Amino acid sequence: MKFQSWMMILLVGMLSLSVACGDDGDSNGDNANAQNNDTGNNDVNNAGNNDTNNAGNNDVNNDMNNDVNNDGNNDVNNDPPPPIFGTEADIAMAMDLWMEIEDHQLDWMQPAATAGWVEGAMPHGSFQQFYHNGTDNTADGYIVIKRNYGMMDEEALGALTVMKKVEGFDSEINDWFFAKFLPDGSLDVNGNGVALAGRVGKGGDMGCVPCHSGAENGNFLHTFEDGEVPSAPPFGRPMDEMLAAQLWDEIGDRANWDAPEGREDWVEGAMPHGSFQRYYHNGTDTGADGYIIVKENYGMMDENALGALTVMKRMEGFDEDLNDWFFAKFLPDGSLDVNGDGVTLAGRVGKGGDMGCVPCHSGAPGGDFLFTVE
Ligand code: HEC
Ligand code: HEC
Repeated sequence: MKFQSWMMILLVGMLSLSVACGDDGDSNGDNANAQNNDTGNNDVNNAGNNDTNNAGNNDVNNDMNNDVNNDGNNDVNNDPPPPIFGTEADIAMAMDLWMEIEDHQLDWMQPAATAGWVEGAMPHGSFQQFYHNGTDNTADGYIVIKRNYGMMDEEALGALTVMKKVEGFDSEINDWFFAKFLPDGSLDVNGNGVALAGRVGKGGDMGCVPCHSGAENGNFLHTFEDGEVPSAPPFGRPMDEMLAAQLWDEIGDRANWDAPEGREDWVEGAMPHGSFQRYYHNGTDTGADGYIIVKENYGMMDENALGALTVMKRMEGFDEDLNDWFFAKFLPDGSLDVNGDGVTLAGRVGKGGDMGCVPCHSGAPGGDFLFTVE
């Protein structure tokens, strides 16, 4: 009997804690260390409860339980409120959301203010990448993703925190749906095993909602103004740089490749300041996935005068608007050249604008972005 009432108190205590400690607390910008931090919190959350279980330490436990129970013990006792996040409906929505964001690294823009790698504020230097599916962050269906890394390395992805505007979801929180995914698409959980999806932390003082409700723009967004936000150019994103690095490795072997027909030797360029070019490709079927063509650009007819390498690779699924061509411009040491804004020339370079690889190559005869080969 006595044990049972302890269990009851304990249960209520746990419920209160699960509401109050809605968040794993790791979102302070150091999400990459998600698991570590979570563990930290688990310890804290469980600590209270575990001590209580070992009912030996009665004095201490009484204090703890009284505090906790006074937080609304009476209302809660017989009829616990439904959980406010991590419900079945939230989890189902989060799973749909994961499908929706599947291709964000290839297909979405980065907000201009947070393009590329962004260094987090935490002591344990964390890194982030931001992506969004539109520029109006007040629009229904707008999604913003923060990818959280332990270091500036794609492999070091720790977690993805995501916010989506879902009209009618919850007007008190501007209809934002929050979710925290692990890299494999599963939902992260808090110390009580509740999935971090939905109104995470609402009504408590930890978690996505209470922390994001403090955002200056009143729209729960920390890094944005409310409303239209400019997007960064659609190239030179971390994903593009990663693909370019792989491409640089691949073309390391170009000395063993053939040249396109008629371009076996030095080719004199059309530029006023007589430039010279050499060409290599890794096959003859320009339509094949993985086809690469390299144009080496020299200031004069001298192997030592290599100035830059412009490269195109057919990457199935990359961007059907561009017939799946990936563009990159390397300097001889393998680093990527940059444009006047310091954005690396990799990916859909110039797409949507009127300068750069894409707009010029889109005028190539034949309609497949290629000038010198068919
Ligand atoms: C303790 C405060 C805090 C908590 C808790 C928190 N965040 Fe954030 N969040 C921030 C800050 C600050 C930023 C701005 C970028 C940065 O400094 O990390 C941010 C940025 C974001 C962004 C990018 C959009 C924006 O607001 O700039 C998303 C998406 C996001 N957080 C989702 C989440 C989700 C989902 C959770 C819960 C699982 C969460 N956050 C928990 C503070 C928090
Ligand atoms: C102003 C127009 C223009 C721009 C900008 C341009 N190119 Fe080209 N590119 C050409 C022309 C024309 C050729 C054909 C060879 C020549 O005359 O130099 C060519 C040839 C190439 C080739 C050999 C395959 C082919 O289409 O013949 C590659 C690879 C290439 N460019 C890559 C790039 C990359 C990468 C960029 C951006 C960093 C770029 N180009 C920017 C006009 C352009």
